[in-house]
Amino acid sequence: MALVPYVENVVPALSKLQNSSARFHFASHDIVIAQDWRTLGVAAVVWDAAVVLCMYLELGHVDLKGKVSIELGAGTGLVGVVAALLGAKVTITDRRCALEFLSNNVKYNLPSDLWESVAVSELSWGEGLDRFPAGGFDLVLGADIVYLEDTFVPLIQTLQHLCADATVVLLACRIRYERDTKFLTMLREQFTVEEVYYDKNRDIHIYKAGKQLPRSDL
Ligand SMILES: C[S@@+](CC[C@H](N)C(=O)[O-])C[C@H]1O[C@@H](n2cnc3c(N)ncnc32)[C@H](O)[C@@H]1O
Repeated sequence: MALVPYVENVVPALSKLQNSSARFHFASHDIVIAQDWRTLGVAAVVWDAAVVLCMYLELGHVDLKGKVSIELGAGTGLVGVVAALLGAKVTITDRRCALEFLSNNVKYNLPSDLWESVAVSELSWGEGLDRFPAGGFDLVLGADIVYLEDTFVPLIQTLQHLCADATVVLLACRIRYERDTKFLTMLREQFTVEEVYYDKNRDIHIYKAGKQLPRSDL
């Protein structure tokens, strides 16, 4: 019988998730994000989609100065931190179990004069949405948040609640499974959606979405 030893980081692309920290340089700042895959799982590691979304923001495709923004499923908060460093006011959100780790990463990586520009809040998609102003955001950000089919409906409900007609939604996604494209189909029923960027090396797509304006001819 062949003996196959258990090697935890057998897939090289996943081994970096097991490092206790990840380092980046965005918006002229060194950023060190603590990771804890073993204890907190998906919410406590930096996913490629977050890195690509930060690169996209840094390239200046979106004007972030003073923009009222919210990040959904922020995990370690890298995207929210970079958005704040680039001048946005950001509410950085995730499920309750992820908040303590998230807050520590955000605080560690932002100069104290930016702490007032950032809030870390619980937001489980579809729940307690009245705690967030309806249509109150210029920009909604999400990196690698399209992966659980059960969450597709509440995630779209959440986008509907947060977005005004002019709100820009940026979703950085790795399309892993057929069901992920189902999310895009569902989103297109209520939002206009276009792909604005593709990182070939990391296989990450960035989609820009906005509420469909009511058709004047109907
Ligand atoms: C794959 S991780 C991505 C984390 C981070 N955005 C990144 O790219 O590094 C998915 C994130 O979505 C969050 N999430 C999953 N289901 C959620 C839900 N129902 N409501 C809010 N956040 C959720 C997880 O806690 C996790 O932080």
